[in-house]
Amino acid sequence: MTVEDRRANIGISIRDAILACMDADQFHAKVVEQYHQYVNPYLAKLMNFAGFGVEVEGEGCYVIDHEGRRYLDFLGGYGVFSLGHRHPRVVDAVHKQLDKMPLSSKVFFSPVMAELAERLGNLAPGQLQFTFFSNSGTEAVEAAMKLAKGATGRTDIVSTVGGYHGKTLGALSITGREKYRLPFEPLLPGPNFVPFGDADALDKAITTNTAAFIVEAVQGEGGIHVAPPGYLKRAQELCRKHGALFIMDEVQTGLGRTGKMFACEHEGVEPDLMTLAKCLGGGVMPIGATLGTAEVWEKTFGKNPLIHTSTFGGNPIACAAGIAALDVIEEEGLIERSRELGSYLFERLRSLAQARPALVNQVRGMGLMVGVEFAYDEVGELTIAQLTKRGVIAAYTLNNPRVIRMEPPLVVTREQIDSALEAFDGALAETEALLTELGALEGFGQESNSMV
Ligand SMILES: Cc1ncc(COP(=O)(O)O)c(C=O)c1O
Repeated sequence: MTVEDRRANIGISIRDAILACMDADQFHAKVVEQYHQYVNPYLAKLMNFAGFGVEVEGEGCYVIDHEGRRYLDFLGGYGVFSLGHRHPRVVDAVHKQLDKMPLSSKVFFSPVMAELAERLGNLAPGQLQFTFFSNSGTEAVEAAMKLAKGATGRTDIVSTVGGYHGKTLGALSITGREKYRLPFEPLLPGPNFVPFGDADALDKAITTNTAAFIVEAVQGEGGIHVAPPGYLKRAQELCRKHGALFIMDEVQTGLGRTGKMFACEHEGVEPDLMTLAKCLGGGVMPIGATLGTAEVWEKTFGKNPLIHTSTFGGNPIACAAGIAALDVIEEEGLIERSRELGSYLFERLRSLAQARPALVNQVRGMGLMVGVEFAYDEVGELTIAQLTKRGVIAAYTLNNPRVIRMEPPLVVTREQIDSALEAFDGALAETEALLTELGALEGFGQESNSMV
C-alpha cells in the first residue's frame, strides 16, 4: 500500500502514514538521496550540512517536519506565507475552483482572472489599472521590463546596487549582485546600477536611452534596506523629467507586508508599472502580476494584444487563491497587524541586539519585514543554525549574507513572536559563547566587515 493509499484509507496525516511505512530517519535519508541523485547534489550537501529536515506539512505559522517537530516559520517563504500556511479561506476557494475549472482554455473569457484584475486595479496606487498575470516574481519583472521597453521605444533599464528582481536572464540583468550575474554575462545590454537611496546618482544615470528605473521600497534580498525618506518621490520626479517609466517591484513588499497595502504608499508615489507575486497566491498557489497604466497598455498591447502572453499566467485556480487572499488581508486586518506587530518585533529585536553589540550591528525594517545585520557574515549562518535547532525558521538575505530577515506570516501572534525572540536570544548567546571560546570575535571576519 502506498503512503497516499494509507492516508486516504484511514484518514491519518501524511507524516503518520510515512512513519507507518518507514521510520523517520529512513524517510529523511531517502529524500536527501533523491536530492543527491535527481535534484541538485550540491544544494543537497549544503542543506544536509545545515541539518535541515524534510518538510511534511504546513499549518498556520508552523512547518512540520518528518519527525513531527513544529517549526515557527519566521522566514515565511521569503514573503509567500503572509496568510500563514494553508489558510482555510484560500484552501476552500482553491478546492471550489479545482472542482469547476482549474486551468483556462485560453480562448474564452475567464471570470476569475477578470475579477482579480479588477480587485487589483481598484487597490493599486495612482493610475495603475491593468494587470498582466504570470506565475512568479521573476516573470512579473520580465513583463515589466518588456512593457517599459515597448511603451517607450527605449532600450535600457536602470536598477539599484543590491536590488533583487529574479534570476531569469532579463530580471538577472537588473539584479544588483555580481555573484549571480557574472557567470552568465553578457546579459541584456544597458543595465546601469546606481546606489540605492542616492537620487543624485540616479539623475546622472538616466539618459535618453532609459526605458525605466526599477526599485524596491525596501530592498529585501539586498539586506532589508528601507528607502530613505523622499527617495522614491525624487526617483519618480526624475523618471518623469527624463521621460523614463518608474517601476516599483513589490514582489516581496506588496499586500501588507510593510504595514501598507503596497510599500510605495508610504511615500505616496504613483508608479507606471508595479510587480507583485509571492503572497498574492495566499500561500497556496504560485502567481505573478504586472500592473500598468492605461498609457503603457495602449502603447504596447494596443499595437498587438498578444505582444506578451503566458500559457499558465492568470489561470483560474491561482486567481481564485488571489481573490481569497485579498479578502483575508482585508477582513482579518492584516495590514494593521503588520504595522502593530512589526513595531513590537522591531523594538524587541533592537533591545536584544543592544545587549550583544559585539555580534549585531543594526536592526532595520518596516512592518513585519525586519532584518538583523550582524558584524560578520559568519554570525548569520551560525545563528540561523542555532535558531533551527530551537524550532524557528529564518534565513539570510540572498544578496547580503550578513543580514537575517524575519518575515513571519502577518497572522502571527504576539506569543509566537515572543517564542521566536526567546529562541533568537538563546541562539545569539550560544553563537557568542562559541566565538568567544574560539577566540574568534576579534579579527573573525574582519575582512568582510570592512566591506560594508
Ligand atoms: C523584490 C523581488 N523581485 C523579484 C523576485 C523574484 O521572484 P521569484 O523568486 O518568484 O522569481 C523576488 C524574490 O525574492 C523579490 O524579492
